[in-house]
Amino acid sequence: MSNRIGIIAGSLRKASFSKKLAQAVVDLQPEGFEFEILSIDNLPIYNQDFDDFNEVPESYTDFRTKLKDIEGFIFITPEYNRSIPGVLKNAVDVGSRPAGESVWNNKPAAVFSSSPGNLSAFGANHHLRQCFVFLNLPTMQQPEVYIANVAEWFDDDGKIKSEDNKKFLKSAIDAYAEWFNKLKENK
Ligand code: FNR
Repeated sequence: MSNRIGIIAGSLRKASFSKKLAQAVVDLQPEGFEFEILSIDNLPIYNQDFDDFNEVPESYTDFRTKLKDIEGFIFITPEYNRSIPGVLKNAVDVGSRPAGESVWNNKPAAVFSSSPGNLSAFGANHHLRQCFVFLNLPTMQQPEVYIANVAEWFDDDGKIKSEDNKKFLKSAIDAYAEWFNKLKENK
């Protein structure tokens, strides 16, 4: 059976480069894997009262139920003010609750980050990793994936223009798949 991996892009905007990267990652899924994009677009801002007083929004229930069956994640984050966008942190928080029922626990993750500038969202990439220590999401250490000048990556149809960039992304995805399989074998 295929390994089900969720691809999460940390941006809501329609023309998001992170969303384009997420689609490119799905298009390059390796054999034996089923990659699917998990939308975070409709998650209201987390309020602990939702869980404490059993007033859980339907979109939270749908998100949490879907993610329970997912075995690993590739997060694609842009950078807002040298950290992750609030919408991505919100999705991480929603998935982590109620206490003891986190959907993230012990699921192998990779973090890819990108920016239209030269710095490749390094700050966001590492802030996300900090959350993953607490959430017990084992995170691929190497290769690290930092994508600079991402606005130059895509054609008008949202496809990656350069073969070199496609190869780079594919090699990172394949490394994740190999690492994922190794962790699974050792379980
Ligand atoms: C940004 N941007 C940005 N870029 C960056 O490299 N480092 C940063 O700290 C920030 N900070 C930042 C804050 C806010 C509030 C916005 C709206 C934008 C620019 C950002 O990289 C750019 O808008 C990306 O295109 C956002 O990613 P998506 O939506 O294309 O996936």
